[in-house]
Amino acid sequence: MLKEKVLKAINQQINNEYYSAFLYLSMSAWFQGKGFQGLANWMFIQYQEELSHGNKFFRYVNERGSQVVLKPIAQVETDFQSVLSVFERALEHEQFVTDSIHKIMDVAIEEKDYATQSFLKWFIDEQVEEEAHAGEIVDKLRMINGHINGIFMLDHQMGKRVFVSPT
Ligand SMILES: [Fe+2]
Repeated sequence: MLKEKVLKAINQQINNEYYSAFLYLSMSAWFQGKGFQGLANWMFIQYQEELSHGNKFFRYVNERGSQVVLKPIAQVETDFQSVLSVFERALEHEQFVTDSIHKIMDVAIEEKDYATQSFLKWFIDEQVEEEAHAGEIVDKLRMINGHINGIFMLDHQMGKRVFVSPT
């Protein structure tokens, strides 16, 4: 069984991951409403990835013979200023998630929970990629600087992304 502090931190992280899923689903809906189907597709895949992250933590708690406790998902943003502001928000959110995973690792180290430390390693690596992806798109959008042709080109590119289950 997981120690209480570790379990509490992971249960909170399950909520964070499903919150991330909702946030990206909301961004996908906003892009869809603006006619950017490629960006909507990219964010929908991001939503699917976050669901799989939540599920991975969920299964881990079960495997360790402990109890998942689900909490309500906070209201996510439904309106955004611009395409750039969506990705800036996504990057900021990924930085928050990275920080929260690092904090769970701190707890697992404190509690000498070696199995959880090993389990979390996948997420620590995954966050490096998540931040890099969001950061690259923010950089591209800053170069595009609001020019509609550039945004449509990016929309076209991002429409090609397909979901590959990360777990
Ligand atoms: Fe995640």
